[in-house]
This record gives sequence, C-alpha cells and structure tokens, in this order.
Amino acid sequence: MVRLICPVRGCGKPLEPAERALACENRHTFDIAKSGYVNLLQPQDRRSPNPGDSKEMVQARRRFVDRGHAALLAELLWQAIGDLGLPAGFSLLDAGCGEGYFPGIISSHFPEADIRGVDISVPAIDAAARKYPNVRWLVANADRFLPFVDGSFDVVMSITARKNSAEFRRIISPTGRLLVAVPGEDDQIELREAVLGKGVQKDRTESTLSHFADHFALEEEIALRYTAHLNAEGLSDLFALSYRGARRQATEQLARISRLDVTLSYRLFRFKVRT
Ligand SMILES: C[S@@+](CC[C@H](N)C(=O)[O-])C[C@H]1O[C@@H](n2cnc3c(N)ncnc32)[C@H](O)[C@@H]1O
Ligand SMILES: [Zn+2]
Repeated sequence: MVRLICPVRGCGKPLEPAERALACENRHTFDIAKSGYVNLLQPQDRRSPNPGDSKEMVQARRRFVDRGHAALLAELLWQAIGDLGLPAGFSLLDAGCGEGYFPGIISSHFPEADIRGVDISVPAIDAAARKYPNVRWLVANADRFLPFVDGSFDVVMSITARKNSAEFRRIISPTGRLLVAVPGEDDQIELREAVLGKGVQKDRTESTLSHFADHFALEEEIALRYTAHLNAEGLSDLFALSYRGARRQATEQLARISRLDVTLSYRLFRFKVRT
C-alpha cells in the first residue's frame, strides 16, 4: 500500500487526509490544489524559485504528445507493465512525470491500479492533474526525497527523467521492478544535425547501468526507434521541450525548416531489486 510521509525536515510522520489538505500529527499541513495535486516541495528541496520544466516547456510537451508522437513508447510501457503479471491493484510511481502523459495512459489500461506521478515543476503537475484525475500527483524533488513509506511501490519508472538509485530502492517493494527509459544515441539526430550542428550523442547505456548497479539487477533491455514526420510547429515544440535556453542562432536555424523527419529513439531498461 502506498503511504505518504511528511517531508518537513526531521518529521517523517505519516501524512493523512484532512480538510482539503494532507496533514501529519505534528500539524504540518499541505493544501490540495484546485486541480487536485499536492505540493510537498520544501524550501531546502529547490534550487530556484521555479524549478523543473517551465510552463512553455510543459505546453510544448503536451502538444507534442497530443499529436501522437509518444504513443509507441506509451504502448511499450503499458505492455511491459502488463507482462509483470501484477495483481490488479498494483502501485506505480513515475518519477519526473512531466505533464503526465505516461501515467495517464497507464492508468487508463490498469484502472484499478494506484498510479502516482511526481515532478518538481508546478506547471507540469498542474497540467497533469487537470487532464488525468485518476492519477495522484505530487510536486517533490525526486533527486532528494520521495515522500513515500519504504517499499510502497510495485513499479517505479523514470522516462527520460530522474535517476535516484537509493531513493528508488527505498520506495520499491523487495519484489518490485524499476523501468528506466533513456534517449538512444540517435534520438533526434536529424534535429541536432540541422540545428545544433552535431549529430550522435553519447550512449547513455553504460552510465545508466552503472548508476543503478548498487541496488538493481538488469533483467531486460529493449530498444525502440521510430520516425516522427514533423512540420514547423512539431519541430518547434520538440526543440522547446528538449533544449532549455537554446541559443538564438539555433532558434533562427530552426525557423528556416518547414518539415523534417526526426528519429525518436529510446532504450528501456527493466531492473529488479538486488538482494
Ligand atoms: C525530459 S522531461 C520528461 C517528462 C516525462 N517523463 C515525459 O517523458 O514526458 C524531465 C522532467 O523532469 C522534471 N524534473 C527535473 N528535475 C527534477 C527533480 N529534481 N525532481 C523531479 N522532477 C524533476 C522536469 O520538470 C521534467 O518534467
Ligand atoms: Zn510533519
């Protein structure tokens, strides 16, 4: 069962539902926002006043997934989850869930499951909560502390997002699974060549495996690669959601391209807990 714990430093008591809020026995209270999420981010957990993806990046990601460009990755994920043969009421956390597309799709395939999403960006979680009310959404810093009791989850996933081996290990049940997707070497290669003047990016397999090696053992690795046929709007959204604070030169270069076929490429790793 998933249980929340109070994020106030030195507290760590269970958080229970209260009047339009969550509260612990030490009377630390966290309001439930109108859209339904709860912000558990503590002052020490943020490095800037508005951490994580900006509203513009969130809107670009939402438009991009709404055009269907992430549907194949979503399908790979829900099938990989179905293959685990978990009981219908299983629990899953998406760490760094963005505007919530993947947890949203997963909850539509597994309506009895307890699906949760955490992101450090308020605009991302607010957009997620408005669109997918069947998922529970929290603002928190996944690099520091995930506000859940030990062993809460059957599945934790991180989709081109945060990697926190020790915290993921703590909140996954001993028989649980970790799903991590990272961009492939040739992900967006055409866009990077056209706009940033460099092609292949470094292979993230080694660094991902070594990051999780202490706590997790690799069970399976799946490569997914497909082409997105993008017009100017699609390109501009993909660029905005991928490259924060891009240089003006790159933005000008992008404005000259009206269509481009862009490779989207991922590696999905499935880990079990190391015993
Ligand atoms: C590349 S996006 C991926 C979003 C989502 N998983 C998807 O694939 O659509 C990375 C996300 O991580 C979030 N993020 C960045 N730092 C974070 C942190 N320390 N804790 C939680 N989320 C974080 C960003 O706000 C952003 O939504
Ligand atoms: Zn407390």
